[in-house]
Amino acid sequence: MILHMPGTAPALLSKTALADRADALLPEYREIIGSILPEAGFGGIWESEMFLFYAAVKPFAPKQILESGRARGKSTLILARCFADARIISIEYDRQSENAAAAEAKLKSERNVELLYGDSREILPQRLQPGDAVLIDGPKDFRALKLALDLLRTGKPCAVFVHDFPPNSPQRKFVERNWPNAFFGDDPLFQRFQSLDNERDPRPNPQRRYGIFACLPRPVSLSYWQIRIRLFFAAW
Ligand SMILES: C[S@@+](CC[C@H](N)C(=O)[O-])C[C@H]1O[C@@H](n2cnc3c(N)ncnc32)[C@H](O)[C@@H]1O
Repeated sequence: MILHMPGTAPALLSKTALADRADALLPEYREIIGSILPEAGFGGIWESEMFLFYAAVKPFAPKQILESGRARGKSTLILARCFADARIISIEYDRQSENAAAAEAKLKSERNVELLYGDSREILPQRLQPGDAVLIDGPKDFRALKLALDLLRTGKPCAVFVHDFPPNSPQRKFVERNWPNAFFGDDPLFQRFQSLDNERDPRPNPQRRYGIFACLPRPVSLSYWQIRIRLFFAAW
């Protein structure tokens, strides 16, 4: 079975299409995140990385965005403000961590956010609707890829972004080998947007670590089962 995403235009999700439209979206994004207190030093996805998600997903105007892995809710708050007309469903596994309370406090006034606790590998497939955008930042590695693939298989998502694909990591190598239309946040086309992080990071001489997004459009050259079998052996 070759995967299909009815109602979406895959060309919108290429790295060149994204880079072409991103500059025009930068001023509005900058204004939106200007309403959020900077929170450098606590981890979470950098503003320049979230900008790629924003520029990739905005043309699809999703009614719902599913987030897996909330921690302190930095990315959740950016999603809530950037997609004010969408419902943001955010799932976090660890209810006991102090991050959970920090996220609840941070997000309590956001009317379009629903905070859930549990394993997103069970919850996301139940909540996925046609046209949803998906951001996975936990689970990681091959577990995240398996979840992304299971969601894409339904044909419902307009876009699936997965965080933490640094160069030479096993999960990155897997995508580079098997998913030719996927692209990554550290592509030279996007480096200019890291200036956003300078503006948001008040620390002197910060040593920033970028997790790096993989943007996974529907696979074009392999069927779901071909990738799934390769994933099984790669993870094993
Ligand atoms: C890097 S943090 C998320 C940071 C957040 N996205 C941000 O930018 O502020 C990863 C989170 O994913 C959560 N996580 C890991 N596996 C998960 C799963 N299967 N379902 C839901 N959350 C999960 C972890 O508990 C952790 O809080």
